[in-house]
Amino acid sequence: MPIGEGPNGSFCQRVGLQPGMEPLKGLILSGGAGTRLRPITHTSAKQLVPVANKPVLFYGIEALVEAGVTEIGIIIAPETGEEIRAAAGDGSAFGARITYIVQDAPRGLAHAVLTAAEFLGDSPFVMYLGDNLLRDGLRGLVATFESEEPDALILLTPVAEPQHYGVAELDGERIVRLVEKPKDPPSNLALVGVYLFTAAIFEAARALEPSWRGELEITEAIQGLIDDGRTVRSEIVTGWWKDTGQLADMLEANRLVLEEVQTRLEGSVDDASTVEGRVVLEPGASLVRSVVRGPAVIGADALIEDAYVGPYTSIGDEVRISRSEVEHSIILAGSTVADLATRMEASLLGRNVKLTRSEGIPRTLRLLVGDNSTIEIV
Ligand code: G1P
Repeated sequence: MPIGEGPNGSFCQRVGLQPGMEPLKGLILSGGAGTRLRPITHTSAKQLVPVANKPVLFYGIEALVEAGVTEIGIIIAPETGEEIRAAAGDGSAFGARITYIVQDAPRGLAHAVLTAAEFLGDSPFVMYLGDNLLRDGLRGLVATFESEEPDALILLTPVAEPQHYGVAELDGERIVRLVEKPKDPPSNLALVGVYLFTAAIFEAARALEPSWRGELEITEAIQGLIDDGRTVRSEIVTGWWKDTGQLADMLEANRLVLEEVQTRLEGSVDDASTVEGRVVLEPGASLVRSVVRGPAVIGADALIEDAYVGPYTSIGDEVRISRSEVEHSIILAGSTVADLATRMEASLLGRNVKLTRSEGIPRTLRLLVGDNSTIEIV
């Protein structure tokens, strides 16, 4: 059969698509309570927390589209779904078509797959955890999946604390066993939150019982495929990967993304300010008597006055930083940081936060802080 011609003579339009294989769909999981990122996640979905001023979720959508996957389902939770819908819309801004699928409760990744059964039909698909970031994108993985046609292709990466992940035991290239959050990990190879499946995963997911944490585990469904003699392939991640579920990971993801930012100065910089290294200054942003040392991004209409913004910092739209020093931090839109006596670092401020010095006597700390906040003072 000539290359490009399907079994019934139909022409396969997508480059790299094997005759007979349907186009891949995408399934992004964007439910989950985000408990480890509270209090930010009390008012916002964790997948919408920005990394280098772009919601984490958008990196996943863009990676799928870049790999040619444009028919995308997004699993949402009842609590945060509307916000995600409002942010990602119908997908046209990304060159995709997005269908939203509500998962009634966070009952596991395999449960999410079953919830999306109608959307996925018999299509092979890429499942992508909405709080994950993968430097090298998905193009290579999709190409491998389409040329080798396994029933599942999983991604692995060495991690320091494998007990917090799904873990693979390999014999050479062959996967012997997959275990979810093992107390005694058989290796340091964690399952990354990106999986490629054929429809065979449905049968394996339907056969599952809830795990000790009450979830239908995708890790166990993939183990089911292996037990049934299906082909499950694995690849080791080459670039970096980050699950942004906690503050330290979020800051690290921000650092890694900013590492590749290119200078673009569309705001205003007065004569008394300096910009060093790679910095993005969005339209309407102003630097007044300040120093910005990149890599850093400063959002639209932000005002930085008599201040220092150091490396690995993302400042959201309409933020004001006055007479203060900030570094290695993420500050969300509309917040104010003023008159700090000490440099702030490794911090994540939510939207419209005010961090200022208290005036007058007595000289005290005055706080209005939401549930589950963390404040460390000097
Ligand atoms: C989930 C998976 C786990 C995988 C991880 C990657 O864990 O269950 O196998 O290693 O994502 O981020 P969870 O985020 O549910 O703890």
